[in-house]
Amino acid sequence: MSFRPQPAPPARPNRSQLFGPGSRTELFEKMAASSADVINLDLEDSVAPDDKDKARANIIAATHEIDWGDKYLSVRINGLDTPHWYRDVVELLENASDRLDQIMIPMVGNAMDIYAVDALVTAVERAKGRMKPISFEVIIETAAGIAHVEEIAAASPRMQAMSLGYADFAASMGMATTGIGGTQANYYMIHEGKTDYPDPWHYAVSAIVAACRTHGVLPVDGPFGDFSDDDAYIAHARRVATLGMVGKWAIHPKQVKLANEVFSPTEEAVAEAREILAAMEEAKKNGLGATTWKGKLIDIASMKQAEVIVRQAELIAGR
Ligand code: COA
Ligand code: MG
Repeated sequence: MSFRPQPAPPARPNRSQLFGPGSRTELFEKMAASSADVINLDLEDSVAPDDKDKARANIIAATHEIDWGDKYLSVRINGLDTPHWYRDVVELLENASDRLDQIMIPMVGNAMDIYAVDALVTAVERAKGRMKPISFEVIIETAAGIAHVEEIAAASPRMQAMSLGYADFAASMGMATTGIGGTQANYYMIHEGKTDYPDPWHYAVSAIVAACRTHGVLPVDGPFGDFSDDDAYIAHARRVATLGMVGKWAIHPKQVKLANEVFSPTEEAVAEAREILAAMEEAKKNGLGATTWKGKLIDIASMKQAEVIVRQAELIAGR
């Protein structure tokens, strides 16, 4: 371990983030009644330019009027290249209830983007005497975002989560695809006559996980567009979970259950993790840093892996 220990990410479940347009108020109660860990009310791309003012007012009213239970409540503001974002921040921070937990900043390109939003949020919080600091989550969805991913993760103590936004990311990178996540027909290898479809998003996912883990931020996977294909959603979610992400967006309510299942450790995995911890405790008592468990080597690193699983299970149980 470096002299600087790796900070722990926020201790809350973030398995599923359910999105809904701020202009579709009829969805709000349904979102609140869902089993999503995080709710993302949207002011950005799912809201038409002429509806931005109305959507903002809808969301502010919803923070006062709807019982969001124990969900983490986030609002996606418009990007810093639009004329809308400053009003999103000012009006939300001046008028939303204390139930608002977080704002999501899309299209971030560098740490200065976060600095600008932080300065505005801080000023309004002080002016209004808001006691609960608003946290930030961001979307990495441009070439600049992935190039500066680490400085973005470190940009503010408000930073809690970072998502990969597939569609804008692919467009910004000039990737030859229109798919939102998943394997791509033209991204293949041929081995001994058999076609294999590797993961074209692997680099971006791993870069985000590394930046997040370095700075105590939650790495989250973005949308999977084809909400009719549960198996493909699950495959994608399992793959990013294996690479270290803690959750995934749901752009349709049916995806919430899938994400919650994939990102909750199974009972079997938790039992196994507890056995590894117990075996390592026993080894430590005998002055050993490594031992054998079920015919396999386990050591201090195995303990850390097991602790991640047990901690995740405890967070979900406390939900
Ligand atoms: N949250 C909660 N409930 C939702 C929902 C959402 N995001 N989207 C749909 N529902 C509800 C519908 O109202 C319907 O409820 P009912 O059974 O009581 O009638 C049920 O789930 C089935 O909905 P369905 O008819 O399949 O979907 P739709 O055509 O109404 O909407 C989308 C489909 C994709 C347009 C919609 O889910 C949506 O707007 N998703 C979020 C888009 C978004 O925010 N994008 C930005 C991030 S990428
Ligand atoms: Mg986007």
